[in-house]
Amino acid sequence: MKKTLTVLSLALLAVTAAQAQEKVLNLYSARHYQTDERLYENFTQQTGIKINRIEGKEDELMERLRNEGANSPADVFITVDATRLAVADSYGLFAPVKSKLLESRIPAHLHTDTWFAFSTRARVIIYNRSAVKAEDVATYASLADPKLKGKVCSRSGAHPYNLSLVASLIAHDGEAKTEEWAKGVVANFARAPKGGDTDQIKSVAAGECGVAVSNTYYLARLIRSDKVEDRRMMERVGIVWPNQANRGTHINISGAGMVKTAKNPEAAVKFLEYLASDEAQRYFADGNNEWPVVPSVATNNPALEAMGKFKADELPIGNLARNVAAAQKLLDRAGYR
Ligand SMILES: [Fe+2]
Repeated sequence: MKKTLTVLSLALLAVTAAQAQEKVLNLYSARHYQTDERLYENFTQQTGIKINRIEGKEDELMERLRNEGANSPADVFITVDATRLAVADSYGLFAPVKSKLLESRIPAHLHTDTWFAFSTRARVIIYNRSAVKAEDVATYASLADPKLKGKVCSRSGAHPYNLSLVASLIAHDGEAKTEEWAKGVVANFARAPKGGDTDQIKSVAAGECGVAVSNTYYLARLIRSDKVEDRRMMERVGIVWPNQANRGTHINISGAGMVKTAKNPEAAVKFLEYLASDEAQRYFADGNNEWPVVPSVATNNPALEAMGKFKADELPIGNLARNVAAAQKLLDRAGYR
């Protein structure tokens, strides 16, 4: 009798342990915004699934996932930029996810079979209002126009943001034309590439550069800054939505996928589906001054509204991946480093 009880209690313990395990999600996140806290709390409240979060820099987290291999505790990996997600995918880090809900909520051009975008950002042209005219920088192609000689500033060509942009140019214009473009941009450089997007914005405002490109959330951050000097600085910077007369402005994404070796795959899919909910979309996008991917979800962000509406390039975001290696090579050849 005693023995039976012990076996039974062990069995019960095993069941309880299994149940406890199902109620956990291990999240590797390269996002660290305050609004994300609310996002995770709400998920736990709604589902009872506790989130263990490991935060890190984008490339470090990806390396960690690769090194851990099948032993990785990670269920979901969240990061920014399609190039990074594509690289993660090329390493075989993601599992395919079949979800009717995700497919119905997220437009087809904003997901692949393995990863999903949950917010979008645009890569726009910025210019010094006293040095450059908006009509002279209406397209990405214009950055290579000899008219802008000595005026173009850029961060490194090897950065994922620029690789994604150039991958989109290859998809639209082909490799040869894009290489010519890259050479033209290099010939227009005001200085060798350095710094991040915010550094380009500051240099444009200071007049060191006439024109540069930047992701929109950096601009929104400065437009809605508490510091008066940031807002003053933005008065000297004009913003152009490139290619409005044709294919639209290049957009990129924040996105996530289920890790191939996820120990909690059901929780992982639930979490990805949760990120596509109205409420989560607002937190997720607005936390970094981005736009929701679900078309029916509206945000209330004065800085984004101040920038106005634009036509976005609908090139499938997964297609960028095919051109990233070619983008890197042609930028190297063009001396855009
Ligand atoms: Fe960024």
